Amino acid sequence: MDIKLVVFLLLVLACQPKKNTVIEKTNSQKVMHPRIFWTENPANHAIISWTSLEDGAINKVYFDTISHENKKVDSYPFFSDANSNGKITTRKDDLESGVPNAYFHHTDLTDLKEGTKYYYRFCSDSTFSPEYYFITSSKKSNELTFLYGGDSRSGEDDEEDKDPAIHSKRKAMNQLIATLVEQNPEIMALVHGADYGMDASWKSLYHWFNDHELTITKDGRVLPLIISRGNHDHEIGFTENFRLGTVTERNSDGYYYKTQFTDSIALITLNTETSMAGYQYKWLKKELEKSRAANKWLLVQYHKPAYPAVKPFDREDFARVRKYWVPLFEQFGIDLALESDGHSLKKTVPILKNKPNPKGIIYIGEGGLGVPQRTPDSKRWYFKNGGHASSNHHVWMLKFKNNVLKTSAIGIDNNVVLDFEIKSKK
Ligand SMILES: [Fe+2]
Ligand SMILES: [Fe+2]
Repeated sequence: MDIKLVVFLLLVLACQPKKNTVIEKTNSQKVMHPRIFWTENPANHAIISWTSLEDGAINKVYFDTISHENKKVDSYPFFSDANSNGKITTRKDDLESGVPNAYFHHTDLTDLKEGTKYYYRFCSDSTFSPEYYFITSSKKSNELTFLYGGDSRSGEDDEEDKDPAIHSKRKAMNQLIATLVEQNPEIMALVHGADYGMDASWKSLYHWFNDHELTITKDGRVLPLIISRGNHDHEIGFTENFRLGTVTERNSDGYYYKTQFTDSIALITLNTETSMAGYQYKWLKKELEKSRAANKWLLVQYHKPAYPAVKPFDREDFARVRKYWVPLFEQFGIDLALESDGHSLKKTVPILKNKPNPKGIIYIGEGGLGVPQRTPDSKRWYFKNGGHASSNHHVWMLKFKNNVLKTSAIGIDNNVVLDFEIKSKK
């Protein structure tokens, strides 16, 4: 038989359910970096992503609503082919740093049932991951809990990224996230305010994805990510490895979109790394007009802050957030704004028209998932009389229940550093 035909047949057979096969060998060296992205509709859609060290010809996700652990892969009734695969861009210094050449894979799971556990394994050719699971959001629920944090780009006690393989504080924060999910299984997602690695090169992201595995719970639960884009996420490695797929209109490259968690709770992710005016501004205005009346809770998240705790208030990019977006947030009565980039813990007083006002918007942030913490300027007017600014590694927990949102900043030792409540405007 023609050798090409033999190779073709072998590839076709790879990843296919086989009768009478033994349990497939899992090899974490060959398929790894499990992660899930949520975009617009987390009740019915999830993007399952991973890395392989070899160029798999066939890449699939097998899934079901019940566990098939310790069973043959052909016992899963459903599978979906990866719809985006490719070689991860590497430069000489990536490979010199010791990270391997690798491939990205992304698979859209659609038509999922809401409020449901999904168990899954992914494979590249005949190498399978262990079984993991995630939970889709419930449209009808009037309760929701998610985590918010940003800035995980380095994790040592100095500002410079001396050894991207170490990242002790980032690892500690990821372990904390797994613990929080184990203690509070109602947590549905991690909203990430960006600046993942020192840059989006493979030598940074490879270790970020390794460390991200620490957020997986002991029983294999993967917490979906809702991502924004930061000033350290500009290289092609970001678009290769953090894929949003087909979100509405032209937003997939823009990394701005609305996540409708439930029928009454939504989060708008914006992108401070592209034009804040122009098309994004028009989209935001249209989305707010549509979404404000339809939701009890409407939040926004983006990387660079309107009300910074560390960097100068008058910096041009922060002034642009205040010029273009804040008036829309105020016009439509956003409930809370989530910001990152500064590397500190902050909560502003409610702000309206650039002044303290009990009817205004609170801005929280701003980046504490392991990056070295800076000293904020706590004397700024928006931190006085009820605001807060300090140096603290942290992740925020947001608990929505009916008309109340309980918001807590959890420190690296699983301690509540700061908490407050707000009531819905509707
Ligand atoms: Fe940043
Ligand atoms: Fe940052």
